[in-house]
Amino acid sequence: MPWVGSYARFPQYRARSGKIDLIEDRINDCFERSMNGKALAPSGRDMDDIVAYLAFLSNGIPVGAQMEGQGLARLKPANGDLKRGVAIFASTCTRCHGANGQGTALAPPLWGAHSYNVGAGMANIITAASFIHALMPIDRAQQLTEQQAFDVATYINTRPRPDFPRKVHDWPKGGKPEGADYHISKEDSHD
Ligand code: HEC
Repeated sequence: MPWVGSYARFPQYRARSGKIDLIEDRINDCFERSMNGKALAPSGRDMDDIVAYLAFLSNGIPVGAQMEGQGLARLKPANGDLKRGVAIFASTCTRCHGANGQGTALAPPLWGAHSYNVGAGMANIITAASFIHALMPIDRAQQLTEQQAFDVATYINTRPRPDFPRKVHDWPKGGKPEGADYHISKEDSHD
């Protein structure tokens, strides 16, 4: 999913925060939620460097422009089947993500202590299914049917992963998307 043009779309109102977010806020969401890490100092050197790089990638792009390849086509919600998801994961995903989703040198963990936390966009089953359908397996993408993408996303997103206590403050003014309920076991959330 390209970054080109992202700098030209901030500041931006986001329903999840219920306010106008700066690009620094968006970047720190990725650090804290998708990477389950710590926020960067908003005006520190590391943040300045990332923002400068994103600005460079948007050089010459009009403010607010929509770019080809931007975002993900969102699949129509479907019920995933856990058993089928287990089988798809075993046959198609483990060679990179590991037998227990723990990640390998080739691909990130998909659950457990080192994965994205429950506050990440990827913890939404519809988002995960859409991402998987469009882009996974990364070397042979678009081989799963939409139903298979929901099956395997249901398996992944019902495994334990770190908590994100501030999620209770998300969507303060409404606009919570379908699939964003956090029904995930929190066994692994203590480390
Ligand atoms: C050839 C190796 C490979 C295979 C096979 C593969 N993936 Fe991935 N996957 C990756 C890589 C590399 C990334 C990280 C992509 C990035 O950061 O841009 C990734 C990222 C992901 C993510 C996002 C993780 C995050 O932290 O946001 C999900 C979800 C995912 N894969 C699911 C799957 C599923 C489900 C399958 C099986 C249908 C699968 N992958 C098969 C290499 C693979």
